Amino acid sequence: MDKKTSEKKDFALQSPKGMRDLIGDEWYAYQGFFEKAAEVAHYYGFKPIEMPALEREELFNRGVGEGTDIVEKEMYTLKTKGGDHLTMRPEGTAPVMRAYLEHGMQSLPQPVMLYYYGPFFRHDNPQKGRYREFYQFGLEILGTPKPITDATIINLFSTILKDAGLKKINVKINSIGDADCRGPYRRELSNYYKKHSKDICADCRERLKTNPLRLLDCKNPGCQEIKAGAPESVGFLCPACKQHFKEVMEYLEKMGIDYEIDSTLVRGLDYYSRTVFEIFSETEITNEDGTKTISNLALGGGGRYDYLAKSLGGKKDVPAVGGGLGVDRIVESPDFAYHAPRIVKKPKVFFIQLSFDAKLKTFEVIEVLRKNHVPMTHSMSKDSLSTQLGIAERMGVPYTIILGQKEALENTVIVRDMETRSQDTVKIDKLCEYLKKLK
Ligand code: HAM
Repeated sequence: MDKKTSEKKDFALQSPKGMRDLIGDEWYAYQGFFEKAAEVAHYYGFKPIEMPALEREELFNRGVGEGTDIVEKEMYTLKTKGGDHLTMRPEGTAPVMRAYLEHGMQSLPQPVMLYYYGPFFRHDNPQKGRYREFYQFGLEILGTPKPITDATIINLFSTILKDAGLKKINVKINSIGDADCRGPYRRELSNYYKKHSKDICADCRERLKTNPLRLLDCKNPGCQEIKAGAPESVGFLCPACKQHFKEVMEYLEKMGIDYEIDSTLVRGLDYYSRTVFEIFSETEITNEDGTKTISNLALGGGGRYDYLAKSLGGKKDVPAVGGGLGVDRIVESPDFAYHAPRIVKKPKVFFIQLSFDAKLKTFEVIEVLRKNHVPMTHSMSKDSLSTQLGIAERMGVPYTIILGQKEALENTVIVRDMETRSQDTVKIDKLCEYLKKLK
């Protein structure tokens, strides 16, 4: 094989950069998290929604905004054979609003409360906690401007994070105002940055032209001093926005949620108005060389998006609020508490199969156990009886079921109590009744 062909083969055997296989327990951690989070959402009256993985490119151009990093740099867009431009969903809010408008959900009792989870795609620079295919759990409340709904999203996210074992949850919140007060604030911010245009980075000079609010997102060390002196959006809020923000904070206080106002928090998506928030969790990480660092990655973020419906082409504004949790970051946190998904139960039985004939009877026995919901585990390998008994012992499984050639011919199995080591021979069609009698 020439070098070119062998390189090609190796390349084909690697998953794309920033995308991973999640195998066995790794995926169970995600599945368990999703189940728990969905349960919280369900209790609070949210209904599930599953959106397509691909949407029209236009949806994100209009919704997330032309000047944003997501639209400018991070979307996976393809042209189909029919000539459509479709995008692998980089986020879930624009698709949820599209679904709300497409299915006429305005005519349902308001608000409409939806939750979703699954993979999202951004062509970002992969690093710890940042992938090109990543998982989000999202909550959206559509059809109401009420401040209690903003606080509810933040409250449920902190409940879900606490249930997942995360500690020191830190909520940052800000209000960027509505159509009335955002204009004057944007002008004031632009004027301030124009005065300092010589001292800011090239990206900020570009943001000054395209999207001044994003100036406050800049992480460049050289821009931090200027950022610290920038005018704050809360100082420009109109009376209605001020009242809204005040009520959101009052609800958070009543709900016992610690929060901090961060006047530089604007979020990188264009559709936000009024409340914006991000949630962090401080964790100590031990590096490969033994040194420790504090990680403070955003585990989630969101806010209100009262104008998104109209910018997508809807006839009327639909006041709405929501947020997304970054599940990869949660599952990778050293504090993450694993919850087994429902299908993974502590096995009551270890099923040992010996000989070829026994393997053919295997499915009959597994079906008896499955239909009667008896959690079990087994080894499909050719391991000997003593090896398999050893595995069952180490796993602490209370009973083993042994199916050898003789038992296969007689339609029986041996049930062994691993604690007392006593055994009984039981007909396969009486197995379930027999197991029910055991502790
Ligand atoms: P976002 O802040 O872009 O908001 O994403 C939400 C969370 O997803 C982030 O806080 C982070 O934990 C996680 N995340 C984002 N990008 C990556 C990545 N490349 N790798 C791993 N995790 C990532 C939204 O997506 C909005 N749709 C949230 C929202 C819902 N706003 C209103 N409703």
